[in-house]
Amino acid sequence: MRIDIITCLPRLLDSPFSHSILKRASEKGLVEVIVHDLRDFTTSKQRQTDDYQFGGGAGMVMMIEPIHNAITKLKSEREYDAIIYMTPDGKTLNQGMANSLSMLKNLIILCGHYKGVDERARERYITHEISIGDYVLSGGELAAAVLADSLIRLLPGVLSDETSALTDSFQDNMLSPPVYTRPAEFMGLKVPEVLLSGHDKNIEAWRMEKALERTKERRPDLYEKLD
Ligand code: ADE
Repeated sequence: MRIDIITCLPRLLDSPFSHSILKRASEKGLVEVIVHDLRDFTTSKQRQTDDYQFGGGAGMVMMIEPIHNAITKLKSEREYDAIIYMTPDGKTLNQGMANSLSMLKNLIILCGHYKGVDERARERYITHEISIGDYVLSGGELAAAVLADSLIRLLPGVLSDETSALTDSFQDNMLSPPVYTRPAEFMGLKVPEVLLSGHDKNIEAWRMEKALERTKERRPDLYEKLD
């Protein structure tokens, strides 16, 4: 998978892709994340990427021209399966969307800033508009990192334990059961007996019961949809 991220604050994305699982994924050649500075695609001397909004009102709007230049250049180099704009008024990201997007090969993610981007750029170039939740961030960079992380960890070979992405919360529209590690007892707090029993069938049944219990209690909306 190749992910091109277009942003006017590229440094904000230095860290998320330089550690742990995402770093290893790119070292293994399973993903390539390229961050582009939107200012490199401006034609003005001041490298301006935003301007006042027509009709008045507070807040700057990202201009269409540098976005056009950046996306056109990338599209001339390869075919893209999705051009995503991170925005609080997009479709809320969920595991199903992450699963589908993780099967694509080349993605562009455009990060918004200020009041957002000129609507014409959205209409013209964007194929998917995605929000990471009902709250407003200062910009789309952290949201882009969240989206990219949710996709990259699903790529075959990225997680060392191949089954672990499949048992994540939400993969079956259920939350995950509680987990424990050593010691088996800490200051009188004990790990549930069944997990120490070595009896795989009982462990599996216990995990299912706890997952259902947790989903019912914390996410009744998901629980109602289970069959
Ligand atoms: N940009 C600002 N807030 C956002 C959000 N909640 N999701 C995606 N992009 C954003």
